[in-house]
Amino acid sequence: MNVLIVAGARPNFMKVAPVIAALRRRAHPALLVHTGQHYDEGMSDVFFRDLEIAAPDYHLGVGSGSHAVQTARVMEAFEPVLREVRPDWLVVVGDVNSTLACALVAAKLRPELGCRVAHVEAGLRSGDWRMPEEVNRVLTDRLADLLLTPSHDALPNLLAEGIDPARVAFAGNVMIDTLRAQLAAARALDMPGRLGLRKGGYVLVTLHRPSNVDDPGALAAVLDALARIAGELPVVFPVHPRTRSRIEAFGVGGDAAALHLLDPLGYREMLSLTDGAAVVLTDSGGLQEETTALGVPCVTLREQTERPVTISHGTNRLAPWPLTRGGVYDAFRQALDSRGAVPAGPEGWDGHAAERIVDALEGHAPSPTPVGEPRDAARAEVPA
Ligand code: UD1
Repeated sequence: MNVLIVAGARPNFMKVAPVIAALRRRAHPALLVHTGQHYDEGMSDVFFRDLEIAAPDYHLGVGSGSHAVQTARVMEAFEPVLREVRPDWLVVVGDVNSTLACALVAAKLRPELGCRVAHVEAGLRSGDWRMPEEVNRVLTDRLADLLLTPSHDALPNLLAEGIDPARVAFAGNVMIDTLRAQLAAARALDMPGRLGLRKGGYVLVTLHRPSNVDDPGALAAVLDALARIAGELPVVFPVHPRTRSRIEAFGVGGDAAALHLLDPLGYREMLSLTDGAAVVLTDSGGLQEETTALGVPCVTLREQTERPVTISHGTNRLAPWPLTRGGVYDAFRQALDSRGAVPAGPEGWDGHAAERIVDALEGHAPSPTPVGEPRDAARAEVPA
């Protein structure tokens, strides 16, 4: 079984690492394509080092651009790679532009090359079609032959869209495979100590969603709320390049003066800081899951989440929307007060998701319902 795996952006690297390792343990040839959607040392290379991922077999070097430009560049550059490798499976992960672009190329070439597409992290839905990631998720799931879900809340979403359950397999959360494998090394780094912070005595923040950082008013409101929180506990804020450029362009840096602003961090550094935080405030999808696995209270700075299992689990909560100084502060206080017993992670967040993914790739028979032909949604059985 030949497998071609795609990674493009920061949140992809921790998802592909365990899958590549599991494939190689079972002697399946696995080649990695890096699209180059993220390219800075701190957004890409450091993850390859921390996670011990071998250099990509193909680097497409697409870089930044509008959604259309970035997606189109990935498609153009990826097509010849797919033709050359002719894998049995193309594995795409997550919901970034590179995910959809490569799945789309493979779907169009399927009749000619016979390559099937597997989507890791299938079935998550925010219900917010304004998010580029939601568009990417829904379309990638529609194109994929095998949909590997990270949590049990994903299956009803797919059935409601008329997807044949024969195409779906529960895998669990592969990002948590990486977290478990790296946690001891991350703790040994002692990032809180290096920054002069007390474990459990600081707040960690990340922010990069266009809805929070591309609008000057929204960004100023969040920074204002963070400045208020910084009056009580140190606030550490590794800043995504998109956010840094907006803070500079909008001149809203005054509120940020009370915060410890850092450059983007490597995987282990970030995990060390997350593990030691009193509370995490974030608009990232991955951090909602990592805090759930670690039992760290999280406030999600978004209108909704495609990862509701993190809320039902008890570690995550949504800040009131639209974000205001008072609303974010109150959500932070509630999260701080909720610290306590760590519930066991959701099912399948156990460090063995990559093994289940390879099991599914090895055992998956082509679906009786051709891909792209939804079952009658009215007939689909949606579990309560
Ligand atoms: C992308 C993903 C998002 C994910 C995020 C994690 C899409 C639609 N969005 O958003 O789901 O949560 O990655 O980071 O795929 N830039 C750099 N250096 C880099 C990469 C980007 O400076 O290495 C800057 C560029 O100015 C670029 C901007 O960041 O225009 C945004 O990058 P882009 O990849 O378009 O989207 P993200 O906001 O990173």
